Amino acid sequence: DWSMAEFRAAKIAEIREQVGDKRVICGLSGGVDSAVAAVLIHEAIGHQLTCVFVDHGLMRSGEADQVVSLFRGHYNIPLVHVNAETLFLSGLAGVTDPEAKRKFIGKTFIDVFEDEARKIGGAEFLAQGTLYPDVIESVSFTGGPSVTIKSHHNVGGLPERMNMKLVEPLRELFKDEVRALGRELGLPDIFVGRHPFPGPGLAIRIPGEVSKDRCDILRKADAIYLEEIRNAGLYDAIWQAFAVLLPVRSVGVMGDGRTYDNVLALRAVTSVDGMTADAYHFSGEFLSRCATRIINEVKGINRVTYDYTSKPPGTIEWE
Ligand code: XMP
Repeated sequence: DWSMAEFRAAKIAEIREQVGDKRVICGLSGGVDSAVAAVLIHEAIGHQLTCVFVDHGLMRSGEADQVVSLFRGHYNIPLVHVNAETLFLSGLAGVTDPEAKRKFIGKTFIDVFEDEARKIGGAEFLAQGTLYPDVIESVSFTGGPSVTIKSHHNVGGLPERMNMKLVEPLRELFKDEVRALGRELGLPDIFVGRHPFPGPGLAIRIPGEVSKDRCDILRKADAIYLEEIRNAGLYDAIWQAFAVLLPVRSVGVMGDGRTYDNVLALRAVTSVDGMTADAYHFSGEFLSRCATRIINEVKGINRVTYDYTSKPPGTIEWE
């Protein structure tokens, strides 16, 4: 892509100019945006960049390993991988309010990140994969000015606290442009094409209390749903698809026995930028195949529903 090649060259020059010979730390979230930002910055300044991946244990199945092997293996970019699952899950015990979850995760993320940054000797600059819609949404979300619908988790507050300057090379881009840039930088298609994933991770897809058990149940169900979507060739037609583990149990029957287990909601939306969205219309056959597989293969789920809500009035995530 000619224009992306231009953008890449221009940004690399800009990053070199801004950073000089100073050090940069980049927080990886596991998502596309921070990965593209990191690879671009690495191309500009090489070993002056260190990436820190705070693994909160709230990732999807296999996701953390993918990030680590991509950065260490494929790109050979210095990466600190912090496994902080226990810290996050113990802090989330008893927390049920969506905003309280988001605030705890955001704050803990910053604490851990700050510790790690200190351990590696600090840096002048902090790199973030902030996109144009993030810039807009933090000013006025769909609810109008000064209404916070959800406090977004993207290391906000960190630069001031750590006295760091920001490097945000994706600030002018929309998601589809970030993907094009990622491809231009040679990131694997399977990674670049990945659906967006929220910073607070599975915690906001488990309404009510989050636990390791519930995360594991959700991870299994979510992986089956996504596998079916990929097998049906629908993955790229969908903006985001995921499962939500509801804090509701329902009665069922399996074999000769009564079950009393969790209810799962499936969600899939189309969208251009995440600001508005429509529910994706699967065939009934597809949905019943997913329901059957999930109930047969995931212990702890005995009922599956589909969420047809658009945004607005709903949001994409449930919390
Ligand atoms: P909502 O649920 O507000 O989400 O309609 C819009 C898009 O943003 C993602 N999302 C987040 N992304 N940090 C992020 O980086 C967050 O805290 C966060 N919360 C929601 C969501 O997955 C959807 O793509």
